[in-house]
Amino acid sequence: MSGKRSVTVTLDGSNKSTSLPLMSGTLGPDVFDIRKIYNDLGVFTFDPGYGSTASCDSRITFIDGDEGILLYRGYPIEQLAEQSNFLEVCYLLLNGELPNAAEAKEFELGVMRHTMLHEQLRTFYNGFRRDAHPMAVMCGVVGALSAFYHDSLDVHDPESRRISAFRLIAKVPTIAAWAHKYAVGQPFIYPRNDLSYAENFLHMFHAVPAEDYKMNPVLAKAMDLIMILHADHEQNASTSTVRLAGSTGANPFACIAAGIASLWGPSHGGANEAVLKMLADIGHVKNVPAFLEDVKDRNNHAKLMGFGHRVYKNYDPRAKIIQKACHDVLNELGIKDDPLLDLAMELEKIALNDKYFVDRKLYPNVDFYSGIILKAMGFPTSMFTALFAVSRTVGWVSQWKEMMEDPQQRIGRPRQIYIGAPRRDYVPASKRG
Ligand code: ACO
Repeated sequence: MSGKRSVTVTLDGSNKSTSLPLMSGTLGPDVFDIRKIYNDLGVFTFDPGYGSTASCDSRITFIDGDEGILLYRGYPIEQLAEQSNFLEVCYLLLNGELPNAAEAKEFELGVMRHTMLHEQLRTFYNGFRRDAHPMAVMCGVVGALSAFYHDSLDVHDPESRRISAFRLIAKVPTIAAWAHKYAVGQPFIYPRNDLSYAENFLHMFHAVPAEDYKMNPVLAKAMDLIMILHADHEQNASTSTVRLAGSTGANPFACIAAGIASLWGPSHGGANEAVLKMLADIGHVKNVPAFLEDVKDRNNHAKLMGFGHRVYKNYDPRAKIIQKACHDVLNELGIKDDPLLDLAMELEKIALNDKYFVDRKLYPNVDFYSGIILKAMGFPTSMFTALFAVSRTVGWVSQWKEMMEDPQQRIGRPRQIYIGAPRRDYVPASKRG
């Protein structure tokens, strides 16, 4: 990865200088290796929000934000969305290659064998208020898996890591579906391993013991697609959180619980829920111009939720795919005139032509549409981010596993510029002014 090229940095006013090697990946811009900058120059680098910093090397996901490209292990998201299925994508993300038929079968059996939760975990739910947010329940229950599966906690053992990966991918749908059942006061529905991953989730979420649940294949396909689109997204906030937690040697269940907490925020995975809230607040197409003026007012903290992305400065390729799926689902469900969708379309049209958004390269991201499609599929708004967490678990686990297998791995520990008070002596309370 390190080539012959380098950049020489000389510290003004001193005789200190260093040569920083330039590193190249398979795709994407080159990066300077700054690891010896402190030793050679006695300075750190400053990059709040890490906008210019590569925190690791990775073989899993590639994004070109200017061109709107997203690749999982080299495969374009458009092709995976069209031709693959979620469990195959899970195999790909975890193992690096698409499975042959026998490998796919074995993997599916491996995952689906772990879909049940330890029965004692049922009682764990009773400790939550009924109105607890599903993400709060998920943080708690996923973290609690560490207390139930002691036999796969050795992070240095490849077999333990493999089993934990299966357990996490298999159990998060059950945990999320049960968070919903608990909230609405319905009996928990146990997983069914004869169904596909997406179908099993829909079944656990929607079915009730009193009647048969009829699976709608269009909705099952849409669910599978939504899961594929959200499966991984390289070093975003929640993935970096998982890696940072994992870098300390923390067990994988604790690390994924940390990732869920990070995903929850409205700037990240919480945006799909926030989009729906925003549309409800706007209320009517006629209020769109006034709302956009609010968003553009710098004294205001309002944002156009579902717009903008740290990396995509052209378009989010996932948004294009999900926009089409959104129309398919609404057609299937016979939703011809959905006022929320009309409002979203109008908002999108106006924003895409508005100088403020054009100048800042702000385009709709995946969350602009995912909330609308999930609402049409019968999910309450509070479940949107939990569904994102279900889909992203495989990405988190793959990134955690890659890090644990990386011989260069060290504890993550950023530095800072200290701007607080200089050293001073303690003043007894009686002598303070
Ligand atoms: N609405 C209005 N203005 C925006 C928006 C928005 N959604 N997003 C960015 N801007 C403005 C900023 O205020 C800033 O303006 P300025 O240059 O006048 O100061 C400019 O665009 C650049 O934005 P940054 O804040 O530098 O962008 P950053 O990369 O830090 O933030 C983020 C990216 C957090 C996604 C932001 O665009 C945002 O908050 N969007 C809304 C929330 C959202 O949809 N999040 C989902 C992201 S996708 C995902 O996690 C799956």
